[in-house]
Amino acid sequence: MIKEHYIADLKTINRATRFESTFLVQSKEIRSKKKSGEPYLVLRLADRTGVMDARMWDNVAAVAEVFENSDFVEIRGRVQDYNGQVQIVIGRLKVVPRPQIDPGEFLPRTSRNIDKMFGELLTTIDGFSNPHLKRLMSGIFRDKETARRFKQAPAASGMHHAWVGGLLEHVLSCLRVSKLLASHYSELDADLLASGVLLHDFGKIFELSVDHAIEYTDEGRLLGHIAMGSAWLERRCDEIEGFPPRLKTLLLHLVLSHHGKLEFGSPKQPLFPEALALHYIDDLDSRLEMMRAVTGEIVGERVWSQFHRGLDAIVLKKEAFLQQGSKTDTPQTSADPAQASSPPQHSPARTEPAPIAPPAGRHGQPAGPPALHPEPTPPPEMAQAESDETPSARPAPDLFSDPGSAGESRE
Ligand SMILES: [Fe+2]
Ligand SMILES: [Fe+2]
Repeated sequence: MIKEHYIADLKTINRATRFESTFLVQSKEIRSKKKSGEPYLVLRLADRTGVMDARMWDNVAAVAEVFENSDFVEIRGRVQDYNGQVQIVIGRLKVVPRPQIDPGEFLPRTSRNIDKMFGELLTTIDGFSNPHLKRLMSGIFRDKETARRFKQAPAASGMHHAWVGGLLEHVLSCLRVSKLLASHYSELDADLLASGVLLHDFGKIFELSVDHAIEYTDEGRLLGHIAMGSAWLERRCDEIEGFPPRLKTLLLHLVLSHHGKLEFGSPKQPLFPEALALHYIDDLDSRLEMMRAVTGEIVGERVWSQFHRGLDAIVLKKEAFLQQGSKTDTPQTSADPAQASSPPQHSPARTEPAPIAPPAGRHGQPAGPPALHPEPTPPPEMAQAESDETPSARPAPDLFSDPGSAGESRE
């Protein structure tokens, strides 16, 4: 089966153009129109070039139950700009059997060189001065099958780095940050922190499968990557004769505590400096990637993203914000030297943060800058209750729905 239209192309396609193409269903939700109660579909569609939200408004009953997440669907539709995002509007949808699918067309993949990234990781291990950690980590990452799986694994199913090679990209990024922190804070043991970084999400190679789509394995759903990774790590340590038991305990704690809190999936909170540093490095790297992704989806002159569940916020696209200011700000001119050295005076035309509630955005949506002490952003579930078939009343889409990790705010 030949795929003609990719998501990356759809972002710039003429909005009047009708197209047909096949996509992977990353998430599917059936919602009800507020007035009529009729169902409509909220989908997150993917191919190897990216992901895009989609809506199907009509004739939903006939197709809603015939496919699930990780299935492939051929759709006929068009794209529209809605609320600062490009969105597919589906006219017709049918399921495509998996044997007709080339998985390489649909699995998002890192744009970086996997072998080069993995080489940097091995070089770091070769530079360890702790002989026990060097032996353990070399044994793990120089094992051919383990390396193959690690290079392929995504870091998550949807929240961040959700692509082939995503785990390696995430770990390498964290590794570079860990070196910076260890060179600054003398209480941090660089080898121990780097080992924690390398191992913290190792369980993802067991938790997630990338055979056709990025999916949770049955064991992954039942046990999760923290439990799977720590059990596996314990066995690797025990295979090495004379591996210090207390060093093993520290490594296990690094894996078990890296999510920081019980409500985020960690059975223990970080209890020594390297564990604390690992938690914040991991959190920072995953959140920055989420911000990069959600601001990358903003189109046109909009400056605010949709609500992002993982970040629990809407996010500012600062380049658009500054550009908007350069169009509307009036340069200060004054002959008075005293005024010239005082703080800039804003012209009335400048977009100011709303003191209490955000003003309406360019397209009539609540998109203005948040107040200093904003009301808590309602979760997508609440927004859903307000849904209607009229575009102006539609809810903010649940951008990164991840049913496999319900209850986790991040991965
Ligand atoms: Fe994790
Ligand atoms: Fe992580």
